[in-house]
Amino acid sequence: MTIIVTGGAGFIGSNFIFHMLDSHPDYRIICLDKLTYAGNLSTLESVMDKENFRFVKADICDRDAVYKLFEEEHPDMVVNFAAESHVDRSIEDPEVFLRTNIIGTAVLMDACRKYGITRYHQVSTDEVYGDLPLDRPDLFFTEQTPIHTSSPYSSSKASADLLVLAYHRTYGLPVTISRCSNNYGPYHFPEKLIPLMIANALNDKPLPVYGEGKNVRDWLYVEDHCKAIDLIIHNGKVGEVYNVGGHNEKQNIDIVRIICKELGKSEDLITFVTDRKGHDMRYAIDPTKIHNELGWLPETKFADGIKRTIKWYLDNKEWWENIISGEYQDYYEKMYKDR
Ligand code: NAD
Ligand code: DAU
Repeated sequence: MTIIVTGGAGFIGSNFIFHMLDSHPDYRIICLDKLTYAGNLSTLESVMDKENFRFVKADICDRDAVYKLFEEEHPDMVVNFAAESHVDRSIEDPEVFLRTNIIGTAVLMDACRKYGITRYHQVSTDEVYGDLPLDRPDLFFTEQTPIHTSSPYSSSKASADLLVLAYHRTYGLPVTISRCSNNYGPYHFPEKLIPLMIANALNDKPLPVYGEGKNVRDWLYVEDHCKAIDLIIHNGKVGEVYNVGGHNEKQNIDIVRIICKELGKSEDLITFVTDRKGHDMRYAIDPTKIHNELGWLPETKFADGIKRTIKWYLDNKEWWENIISGEYQDYYEKMYKDR
């Protein structure tokens, strides 16, 4: 079994590669990643020399590069994590989101059609469903919830999902889609809420909470997401969408308070700043389908996962300090220039 994992130098993709190499040591895993600002090759250092692993630096929008890789590797499956993933960046500059998240998805699926695969899996997001009101805790996103996006990011991900389903219906491409809630854990890029707050708190810098901090996210430990995708690509039904989430809703302000408490830092560091434009209020996944059909349940409780995550950031300061200082961007050049 050969699997191309796109975006594998990013947060969830790298965790997925570690999971797959551990759980399926007989599989060949190819990571295709453009190494944008969010991709960090040092993350994959521990697997780089494995015989059944290969890293390829390429853009998923680059048709020639993608087709060449398919010709070389004849993959059985493609799992597409590659994306521009940060809502705030999409508000500043939407265009690259449309290019990577929509065109890139189409190029990958065209390659799948041309060369043949057993499964194309699209890693999507609960943000395609828009948001839920804070005063209706009885409402959850199911797979039937209409697509109703808020940001350029979520609109690009929703567009990609529609294309994936269209390729299934029109060309019979064997696809699946997972729509997951907010992940947290090791290798999370330090401009997203949890790692940013950990890094700032450790440096005694202000903790910038958008608006009143009442927005709710449904947090899932990244390893649980990886296990869900593993189940879907092997046992999920072709043409289907699976929501992934763990009924772990928390207001942003509470997340920040937990981090302060765990690190022994004063809540005086919390600073309320101008809200995100179009800020979604609440995300909440109903994971009944993946539980009933595939037996998936999240294994990591938030109280344990957040402790583990904070410990990881304390033990791996070099990783995120290099990112914050910008040094990691020189890593590829340094490691691969003469290779
Ligand atoms: P990330 O930003 O940490 O990583 C994205 C990776 O994709 C990086 O390694 C980057 O270099 C690569 N990439 C970007 N553009 C590329 C291109 N044109 N060609 C090849 N590689 C490219 O993102 P993440 O948080 O790991 O998210 C991964 C996927 O999961 C995304 O599709 C995202 O929409 C989805 N998702 C994320 C979350 C979350 O909480 N982070 C939740 C649900 C779904
Ligand atoms: O729900 C899944 C989505 O989760 C994924 O599709 C996205 O790729 C991923 O980035 C994430 O999006 P969010 O916008 O929810 O994540 P972010 O970490 O940027 O923000 C989480 C919440 O915290 C959100 O309500 C905005 C708020 N926030 C964020 C930052 C970075 C702050 O209050 N302050 C901050 O500095």
